[in-house]
Amino acid sequence: VRVVADLEALSRAAAAEFTRRARAAIARRGRFTVALAGGSTPARLYALLADPCRPWRARIRWDRVECFFTDERDVPARHPDSNVRTARRALLDRVPIPRSRIHPVRFEGRAPAAPGTGGGARTGSAARRARRAALRYARVLRTAFDLPPDGMPRFDLVLLGLGADGHVASIFPRRGARRSPGGLVAAVPAPGPGIPGGAHARVTLTLPVLDAAAAVIVLVSGASKAGALSSALGRRRSDRPATLLRPSRGRLIWIVDRAAAGRRRPR
Ligand code: 6PG
Repeated sequence: VRVVADLEALSRAAAAEFTRRARAAIARRGRFTVALAGGSTPARLYALLADPCRPWRARIRWDRVECFFTDERDVPARHPDSNVRTARRALLDRVPIPRSRIHPVRFEGRAPAAPGTGGGARTGSAARRARRAALRYARVLRTAFDLPPDGMPRFDLVLLGLGADGHVASIFPRRGARRSPGGLVAAVPAPGPGIPGGAHARVTLTLPVLDAAAAVIVLVSGASKAGALSSALGRRRSDRPATLLRPSRGRLIWIVDRAAAGRRRPR
């Protein structure tokens, strides 16, 4: 657990860790596989990685980076709630990463967008569309990682944020997608109000995929996350998915700011 002063310091620490791991993976195997987090916390990290005036951009061979997403909402790619939109605007459109190495989650068969809605969807078809998108994304992973039928992708790095309710990616308390047997990617119904982008069904990497990573970095900023962070780092078992993160052969790194850490001492 690394406690830093604020979101800017958190983003710089994460940029340094991202760069170190990217360089090591590319030196060792010629590529760096990363699953980008959704939500708003990582946006500053993405901007720092893309900024030519900062030390990190030039140190990464972007043509060797293979980029995936921990989860995505069922919205058009230009919708403000789209995770790929956040990543493209802050990072992916600003670094020389080949388009073929960016793997967004694709929701097909979207209902025609009503004027000004950015693309709505009928409820029944939303669940079916999310299931199809999850199956499709699992195939993308199997191909990109050259997996056998029951194989598990091992990302060099998974980036996560933390929801105030303890969710990570789109794995919510008391929902599926946590230990989907053999499932790499799960469809999740719209989590509802109170969750950012809660109006949309989602697709998410499952907990076994997160746990298989060589490194998981969870970025936690703000007092609203203090309860979920304390629970995740505490001894008490709970149904909050963040408390279940257990990379079996990898590093779990929490980079948190003081507002989220509460009384936890800097380390
Ligand atoms: C999503 C994210 C989600 C996010 C947390 C924290 O698509 O909603 O993957 O898990 O990381 O909700 O969101 P903020 O960083 O915006 O607080």
